[in-house]
Amino acid sequence: MSAALTEILAGLRLPEKMISPKYLYDERGSQLFDEITHLPEYYPTETELGITMDNMPEICDLIGKRASLIEYGSGSSRKTRALLDSLQQQAVYVPVDISEDHLLLSAEKIRSEHPGLEVLPVVADFTRPFDLPDPTIMPLRNIVYFPGSTIGNFTNDVAQELLGFMYQEAGTDGALLIGVDLQKDPAIIERAYNDSAGVTAQFNLNMLTHLNREIGFDFDVSSFTHSAHYDTDEGRMEIRLISEKSQVVTIGDEHIEFDDGESILTEYSHKYTLEGFAKMAELAGFAVRKVWTDADELFSVQYCVRP
Ligand code: TRP
Repeated sequence: MSAALTEILAGLRLPEKMISPKYLYDERGSQLFDEITHLPEYYPTETELGITMDNMPEICDLIGKRASLIEYGSGSSRKTRALLDSLQQQAVYVPVDISEDHLLLSAEKIRSEHPGLEVLPVVADFTRPFDLPDPTIMPLRNIVYFPGSTIGNFTNDVAQELLGFMYQEAGTDGALLIGVDLQKDPAIIERAYNDSAGVTAQFNLNMLTHLNREIGFDFDVSSFTHSAHYDTDEGRMEIRLISEKSQVVTIGDEHIEFDDGESILTEYSHKYTLEGFAKMAELAGFAVRKVWTDADELFSVQYCVRP
Protein backbone atom coordinates (compact mmCIF):
# COMPACT_ATOMS: atom_id res chain seq x y z
CA MET A 1 0.00 0.00 0.00
CA SER A 2 1.39 3.44 -0.92
CA ALA A 3 2.28 5.92 1.82
CA ALA A 4 -0.38 8.26 0.47
CA LEU A 5 -3.10 5.60 0.67
CA THR A 6 -2.05 4.58 4.19
CA GLU A 7 -2.25 8.21 5.30
CA ILE A 8 -5.63 8.82 3.64
CA LEU A 9 -7.17 5.61 5.05
CA ALA A 10 -5.93 6.48 8.55
CA GLY A 11 -7.69 9.86 8.26
CA LEU A 12 -10.90 8.26 6.98
CA ARG A 13 -10.93 5.82 9.93
CA LEU A 14 -10.84 8.54 12.58
CA PRO A 15 -14.09 9.15 14.50
CA GLU A 16 -14.19 12.51 12.69
CA LYS A 17 -13.06 11.74 9.14
CA MET A 18 -10.41 13.98 7.62
CA ILE A 19 -8.15 14.16 4.55
CA SER A 20 -5.03 16.35 4.35
CA PRO A 21 -5.59 19.62 2.44
CA LYS A 22 -2.54 18.84 0.30
CA TYR A 23 -4.82 16.62 -1.82
CA LEU A 24 -6.77 19.73 -2.87
CA TYR A 25 -3.91 20.73 -5.15
CA ASP A 26 -3.71 18.62 -8.27
CA GLU A 27 -3.47 20.55 -11.56
CA ARG A 28 -7.20 21.29 -11.64
CA GLY A 29 -7.16 22.16 -7.93
CA SER A 30 -4.33 24.66 -8.36
CA GLN A 31 -6.23 26.20 -11.27
CA LEU A 32 -9.43 26.46 -9.19
CA PHE A 33 -7.54 27.95 -6.25
CA ASP A 34 -6.10 30.56 -8.58
CA GLU A 35 -9.68 31.36 -9.62
CA ILE A 36 -10.65 31.66 -5.95
CA THR A 37 -7.96 34.29 -5.39
CA HIS A 38 -9.67 36.44 -8.05
CA LEU A 39 -13.21 36.11 -6.61
CA PRO A 40 -14.78 39.26 -5.17
CA GLU A 41 -15.68 37.41 -1.92
CA TYR A 42 -12.19 36.01 -1.33
CA TYR A 43 -10.64 39.05 0.37
CA PRO A 44 -7.27 37.61 1.60
CA THR A 45 -5.30 37.67 -1.67
CA GLU A 46 -6.18 41.17 -2.88
CA THR A 47 -5.98 42.60 0.62
CA GLU A 48 -2.52 41.17 1.30
CA LEU A 49 -1.31 42.33 -2.10
CA GLY A 50 -2.67 45.82 -1.38
CA ILE A 51 -1.00 45.97 2.04
CA THR A 52 2.29 44.80 0.54
CA MET A 53 2.15 47.37 -2.29
CA ASP A 54 1.09 50.24 -0.03
CA ASN A 55 4.03 49.66 2.30
CA MET A 56 6.65 48.46 -0.16
CA PRO A 57 9.32 51.12 0.51
CA GLU A 58 9.22 50.43 4.25
CA ILE A 59 9.18 46.65 3.75
CA CYS A 60 12.20 46.83 1.45
CA ASP A 61 13.96 49.10 3.92
CA LEU A 62 13.44 46.62 6.75
CA ILE A 63 14.63 43.70 4.62
CA GLY A 64 17.72 45.64 3.61
CA LYS A 65 20.33 44.89 0.98
CA ARG A 66 21.75 41.54 -0.09
CA ALA A 67 19.23 39.50 1.83
CA SER A 68 18.25 35.95 1.03
CA LEU A 69 14.47 35.71 0.66
CA ILE A 70 13.34 32.21 1.65
CA GLU A 71 9.73 31.67 0.65
CA TYR A 72 7.67 28.89 2.18
CA GLY A 73 5.54 28.00 -0.84
CA SER A 74 6.24 27.83 -4.55
CA GLY A 75 6.58 31.56 -5.20
CA SER A 76 4.06 31.89 -7.99
CA SER A 77 2.04 34.57 -6.20
CA ARG A 78 1.56 38.17 -7.28
CA LYS A 79 2.82 39.28 -3.84
CA THR A 80 6.17 37.57 -4.34
CA ARG A 81 6.54 39.06 -7.82
CA ALA A 82 5.84 42.54 -6.44
CA LEU A 83 8.35 42.07 -3.64
CA LEU A 84 11.10 40.75 -5.93
CA ASP A 85 10.44 43.64 -8.34
CA SER A 86 10.97 46.17 -5.58
CA LEU A 87 13.89 44.74 -3.63
CA GLN A 88 17.20 46.32 -4.59
CA GLN A 89 20.50 44.44 -4.65
CA GLN A 90 18.95 41.23 -3.53
CA ALA A 91 21.32 38.31 -3.12
CA VAL A 92 19.21 35.23 -3.53
CA TYR A 93 15.66 33.92 -3.70
CA VAL A 94 14.90 30.46 -2.29
CA PRO A 95 11.37 29.15 -2.93
CA VAL A 96 10.62 26.00 -0.91
CA ASP A 97 7.79 23.69 -1.94
CA ILE A 98 6.86 20.03 -1.85
CA SER A 99 5.38 20.01 -5.36
CA GLU A 100 8.47 19.74 -7.58
CA ASP A 101 6.90 20.40 -11.01
CA HIS A 102 5.09 23.50 -9.87
CA LEU A 103 8.15 24.76 -7.95
CA LEU A 104 10.64 24.37 -10.81
CA LEU A 105 8.23 25.94 -13.28
CA SER A 106 7.66 29.05 -11.19
CA ALA A 107 11.39 29.26 -10.32
CA GLU A 108 12.18 29.30 -14.04
CA LYS A 109 9.63 32.05 -14.58
CA ILE A 110 11.08 34.17 -11.75
CA ARG A 111 14.59 33.62 -13.14
CA SER A 112 13.58 34.91 -16.57
CA GLU A 113 11.87 37.94 -15.04
CA HIS A 114 14.82 38.75 -12.78
CA PRO A 115 18.09 38.27 -14.59
CA GLY A 116 20.91 38.68 -12.08
CA LEU A 117 18.88 37.28 -9.21
CA GLU A 118 20.12 33.90 -8.00
CA VAL A 119 17.08 31.61 -7.73
CA LEU A 120 17.67 28.40 -5.76
CA PRO A 121 14.49 26.31 -5.45
CA VAL A 122 14.39 23.67 -2.70
CA VAL A 123 12.07 20.67 -3.00
CA ALA A 124 11.10 19.99 0.60
CA ASP A 125 8.18 19.62 2.97
CA PHE A 126 8.55 22.85 4.92
CA THR A 127 6.71 21.45 7.94
CA ARG A 128 10.03 19.65 8.71
CA PRO A 129 13.47 21.28 9.03
CA PHE A 130 15.36 21.36 5.69
CA ASP A 131 18.84 22.41 4.52
CA LEU A 132 19.33 25.77 2.84
CA PRO A 133 21.28 25.81 -0.45
CA ASP A 134 24.68 27.53 -0.77
CA PRO A 135 24.41 30.76 -2.76
CA THR A 136 27.37 32.09 -4.77
CA ILE A 137 27.29 35.41 -2.93
CA MET A 138 26.94 35.14 0.83
CA PRO A 139 23.72 36.92 1.85
CA LEU A 140 23.87 39.39 4.73
CA ARG A 141 20.77 37.93 6.36
CA ASN A 142 17.88 35.53 5.83
CA ILE A 143 14.29 36.68 5.48
CA VAL A 144 11.72 33.92 5.77
CA TYR A 145 8.69 34.91 3.68
CA PHE A 146 5.39 33.14 4.40
CA PRO A 147 2.50 34.91 2.63
CA GLY A 148 -1.15 33.94 2.15
CA SER A 149 -1.89 33.24 5.83
CA THR A 150 -0.97 29.65 5.07
CA ILE A 151 0.11 29.47 8.73
CA GLY A 152 -3.66 29.38 9.48
CA ASN A 153 -4.08 26.09 7.62
CA PHE A 154 -2.19 24.26 10.37
CA THR A 155 -3.52 23.35 13.80
CA ASN A 156 -2.14 25.58 16.55
CA ASP A 157 0.40 22.95 17.69
CA VAL A 158 1.79 22.45 14.20
CA ALA A 159 1.73 26.21 13.43
CA GLN A 160 3.70 26.81 16.63
CA GLU A 161 6.26 24.18 15.67
CA LEU A 162 6.49 25.62 12.15
CA LEU A 163 7.24 29.10 13.52
CA GLY A 164 10.01 27.48 15.56
CA PHE A 165 11.56 25.97 12.41
CA MET A 166 11.32 29.37 10.71
CA TYR A 167 13.17 30.90 13.64
CA GLN A 168 15.97 28.37 13.05
CA GLU A 169 16.02 28.93 9.25
CA ALA A 170 16.12 32.71 9.74
CA GLY A 171 19.37 32.39 11.71
CA THR A 172 21.21 35.20 13.49
CA ASP A 173 19.90 38.65 12.45
CA GLY A 174 17.22 36.96 10.34
CA ALA A 175 13.57 37.91 10.22
CA LEU A 176 10.15 36.63 9.25
CA LEU A 177 7.74 38.44 6.90
CA ILE A 178 4.37 36.75 7.21
CA GLY A 179 0.77 37.20 6.02
CA VAL A 180 -1.71 36.71 8.87
CA ASP A 181 -5.48 36.75 8.33
CA LEU A 182 -7.41 38.49 11.11
CA GLN A 183 -10.55 37.69 13.10
CA LYS A 184 -13.50 39.79 11.94
CA ASP A 185 -17.25 39.65 11.32
CA PRO A 186 -17.82 35.92 10.69
CA ALA A 187 -20.19 36.76 7.80
CA ILE A 188 -17.27 38.26 5.84
CA ILE A 189 -15.11 35.22 6.52
CA GLU A 190 -17.82 32.68 5.68
CA ARG A 191 -18.61 34.46 2.41
CA ALA A 192 -14.96 34.09 1.35
CA TYR A 193 -15.33 30.30 1.53
CA ASN A 194 -18.88 30.08 0.13
CA ASP A 195 -18.62 32.17 -3.02
CA SER A 196 -21.75 32.76 -5.09
CA ALA A 197 -20.17 31.39 -8.28
CA GLY A 198 -19.54 28.07 -6.51
CA VAL A 199 -15.83 27.94 -7.36
CA THR A 200 -14.88 27.07 -3.78
CA ALA A 201 -17.36 24.18 -3.78
CA GLN A 202 -15.82 22.87 -7.02
CA PHE A 203 -12.35 23.27 -5.53
CA ASN A 204 -13.26 21.32 -2.40
CA LEU A 205 -15.11 18.55 -4.32
CA ASN A 206 -12.23 18.25 -6.78
CA MET A 207 -10.28 16.58 -3.96
CA LEU A 208 -12.48 13.49 -4.39
CA THR A 209 -12.05 13.47 -8.18
CA HIS A 210 -8.29 13.72 -7.60
CA LEU A 211 -8.32 10.80 -5.14
CA ASN A 212 -10.41 8.67 -7.49
CA ARG A 213 -7.96 9.25 -10.34
CA GLU A 214 -4.61 9.17 -8.49
CA ILE A 215 -5.25 6.70 -5.67
CA GLY A 216 -8.10 4.60 -7.08
CA PHE A 217 -10.99 5.43 -4.75
CA ASP A 218 -14.56 5.23 -6.08
CA PHE A 219 -16.06 8.32 -4.44
CA ASP A 220 -19.42 9.23 -5.99
CA VAL A 221 -18.51 12.91 -6.19
CA SER A 222 -22.09 14.01 -6.96
CA SER A 223 -23.30 12.65 -3.60
CA PHE A 224 -21.02 14.99 -1.60
CA THR A 225 -21.50 18.70 -0.99
CA HIS A 226 -19.24 21.54 0.14
CA SER A 227 -19.58 23.00 3.63
CA ALA A 228 -17.63 25.92 5.15
CA HIS A 229 -18.43 27.17 8.63
CA TYR A 230 -16.67 29.64 10.95
CA ASP A 231 -16.21 28.37 14.50
CA THR A 232 -16.14 31.49 16.66
CA ASP A 233 -14.70 29.72 19.73
CA GLU A 234 -11.79 28.24 17.79
CA GLY A 235 -11.40 31.32 15.56
CA ARG A 236 -11.24 29.23 12.43
CA MET A 237 -12.99 28.26 9.23
CA GLU A 238 -13.78 24.57 9.12
CA ILE A 239 -14.15 23.28 5.59
CA ARG A 240 -15.75 19.92 4.98
CA LEU A 241 -17.28 17.63 2.41
CA ILE A 242 -20.67 16.22 3.46
CA SER A 243 -21.99 12.85 2.33
CA GLU A 244 -25.61 13.43 1.28
CA LYS A 245 -26.55 9.77 1.70
CA SER A 246 -25.38 6.70 3.58
CA GLN A 247 -22.88 4.95 1.36
CA VAL A 248 -19.75 2.84 1.20
CA VAL A 249 -16.59 4.03 -0.54
CA THR A 250 -14.23 1.31 -1.70
CA ILE A 251 -10.58 1.02 -2.61
CA GLY A 252 -9.20 -2.49 -3.21
CA ASP A 253 -10.34 -4.57 -0.23
CA GLU A 254 -10.90 -1.53 1.96
CA HIS A 255 -14.36 -0.16 2.67
CA ILE A 256 -15.20 3.17 4.26
CA GLU A 257 -18.75 3.65 5.50
CA PHE A 258 -20.49 7.02 5.48
CA ASP A 259 -23.70 7.87 7.32
CA ASP A 260 -26.13 10.26 5.68
CA GLY A 261 -24.81 13.73 6.62
CA GLU A 262 -21.39 12.50 7.77
CA SER A 263 -18.48 14.78 6.91
CA ILE A 264 -14.82 14.74 5.90
CA LEU A 265 -12.76 17.65 7.23
CA THR A 266 -10.61 18.96 4.36
CA GLU A 267 -9.15 22.17 5.78
CA TYR A 268 -8.92 24.53 8.72
CA SER A 269 -8.20 28.19 8.13
CA HIS A 270 -7.41 29.87 11.43
CA LYS A 271 -7.95 33.60 11.80
CA TYR A 272 -5.96 35.48 14.44
CA THR A 273 -6.14 38.47 16.72
CA LEU A 274 -3.01 40.64 16.68
CA GLU A 275 -2.37 39.67 20.34
CA GLY A 276 -2.93 35.98 19.61
CA PHE A 277 -0.45 35.92 16.75
CA ALA A 278 2.12 37.98 18.69
CA LYS A 279 1.99 35.40 21.48
CA MET A 280 2.63 32.53 19.04
CA ALA A 281 5.51 34.43 17.43
CA GLU A 282 7.01 35.12 20.88
CA LEU A 283 6.76 31.48 21.93
CA ALA A 284 8.82 30.65 18.81
CA GLY A 285 11.45 33.24 19.81
CA PHE A 286 10.39 36.06 17.49
CA ALA A 287 9.37 39.60 18.39
CA VAL A 288 6.76 41.32 16.18
CA ARG A 289 8.45 44.55 15.08
CA LYS A 290 5.93 45.90 12.60
CA VAL A 291 2.31 45.16 11.69
CA TRP A 292 0.72 46.56 8.52
CA THR A 293 -3.01 46.19 7.91
CA ASP A 294 -5.60 47.43 5.43
CA ALA A 295 -8.02 50.20 6.47
CA ASP A 296 -10.72 47.65 7.43
CA GLU A 297 -8.24 45.48 9.37
CA LEU A 298 -9.21 42.40 7.42
CA PHE A 299 -5.65 41.11 6.99
CA SER A 300 -2.15 41.83 8.27
CA VAL A 301 1.42 41.56 7.07
CA GLN A 302 3.85 41.25 9.95
CA TYR A 303 7.59 41.69 10.29
CA CYS A 304 9.06 39.61 13.10
CA VAL A 305 12.70 39.68 14.20
CA ARG A 306 14.96 37.50 16.30
CA PRO A 307 15.53 39.84 19.25
N1 TRP B 1 -5.20 28.51 2.21
C1 TRP B 1 -6.47 29.00 1.70
C2 TRP B 1 -7.28 29.60 2.85
O1 TRP B 1 -7.30 29.07 3.92
C3 TRP B 1 -7.12 27.87 0.98
C4 TRP B 1 -8.58 27.88 0.68
C5 TRP B 1 -9.34 28.88 0.22
C6 TRP B 1 -9.42 26.74 0.80
N2 TRP B 1 -10.64 28.45 0.04
C7 TRP B 1 -10.70 27.14 0.38
C8 TRP B 1 -9.22 25.42 1.20
C9 TRP B 1 -11.76 26.23 0.36
C10 TRP B 1 -10.28 24.52 1.16
C11 TRP B 1 -11.54 24.92 0.74
O2 TRP B 1 -7.85 30.65 2.72
